[in-house]
Amino acid sequence: MARAANTPIRRRVTLFAAALAIASVSGCTAAATSSPAASSHDLTVYHWWTAGGERQAMTKMEEDFETAYPSVLIHDNPAAGGGGITLETVVQGKLAAGVPPDTFQSHAGGELRTYVDGGYLDSVDDIWTAHDLDQKYPPVLGRMVTFNGQKMAIPVSIHRANWLFYNVPIFTRLGLTAPTTVDEMIADAKVLQAAGIAPIGLGTRDKWTALDLFDVVLLSVAGSDGYEQFYTGLLDPATNPNIKLAFQKFAELIPYVYPDHGSATWSDMPAQLTSGRVGMMVLGDFAAPLLTSLGGVEGRDWEAVGFPQKPSQVFLMVIDAFTRPKGVQHPDATTDWLNNLVSPKTQADFTLLKGSIAPNQDVPVSTYSMSIQARASTAFKTLPVVPSSIHGALAPLDFLGEWQDVLTVFLYSPDVSRALSQAALLMKSYDVAGNSAWYWAK
Ligand code: BGC
Repeated sequence: MARAANTPIRRRVTLFAAALAIASVSGCTAAATSSPAASSHDLTVYHWWTAGGERQAMTKMEEDFETAYPSVLIHDNPAAGGGGITLETVVQGKLAAGVPPDTFQSHAGGELRTYVDGGYLDSVDDIWTAHDLDQKYPPVLGRMVTFNGQKMAIPVSIHRANWLFYNVPIFTRLGLTAPTTVDEMIADAKVLQAAGIAPIGLGTRDKWTALDLFDVVLLSVAGSDGYEQFYTGLLDPATNPNIKLAFQKFAELIPYVYPDHGSATWSDMPAQLTSGRVGMMVLGDFAAPLLTSLGGVEGRDWEAVGFPQKPSQVFLMVIDAFTRPKGVQHPDATTDWLNNLVSPKTQADFTLLKGSIAPNQDVPVSTYSMSIQARASTAFKTLPVVPSSIHGALAPLDFLGEWQDVLTVFLYSPDVSRALSQAALLMKSYDVAGNSAWYWAK
């Protein structure tokens, strides 16, 4: 199917479907038809990849699909909002209204479990088996999408969430080295601030980025075991000294955080870093393509180090996956889409632009032009791998919604005792331990 012929149709249907989604989430009963153009060769895809780098990677994935399945017409439905913050609401509304998209994006782990428990998804065991993914994918990916003994989504990409990016010319000019600990980060921040540069880039308009920063602090005081235990409800925040220490350290960072963080998103920060308005930032490697697209050259203009490096290094893992909802209008097209996600070509094309690494081990590391991706690939194979809480992989999704509020409020009003009692209350009211039993059962 020629791309030029596709584009206008796709755009028209996208607007229609967005209106339908809004109607659904606002409580109207939506009709079960998705578009006047619907046929067995249509495919509605819901995702949140709209920022620089993300959009290009998704477009490339769709182009690869169109080449492999020329008779299927994609209806692309992006919901802007990093980390899926908006898409979750849109999709939950559509699922509840009985008008599921043919496929939608989810993080593997706790977020996926929400849809599984709601009874909204069919298994993808047939695809998993047909492609021998127990052999082609690292075992941890299979574990993160297995619920009740069945595979419930197809992963397409793996991100590392805990990188510290910094502006190389500024660090060189001020004689700074990349921090390996939170204390070193604070020491660098003091020098940056004295030079009139906002030390730590952060955009909390979508809130989840506050967790990104807190989580590296938590890792630095509690290590990967403490991190895992905290987000699966096995530590009591009211009494555990590491959680208290993490909040105390988090409070120490606040004076150095980008002052307008509340009105910015994660995707605003790369431009702040390349322009030298901020000196460093903690983000996942999805920031790397954006830095590059802004003209920043890796190694020359910006660099990234896994963070923290002490007490030990960890790969904080985020897995992007697609689902097979129950009762879709175009089940064959959904299967085609999921089959294509597994293809080494699609994964190589997609992850190259996305800043992530491919789950399919047939994709060679030489695919990646950025050093950060080659280093992520090595880190994934050599470091302890822990699912990132931030992106809904570890803790239950409803808990995370409130947890990110606690952390965002803390940035404005850093009261450690209040935060600890709020954390303890949330752990209990969302039964984080009970709702995380799936993780330890794997
Ligand atoms: C996703 C990435 C995405 C990022 C920002 C993460 O949760 O895993 O694919 O680029 O959010 O939207």
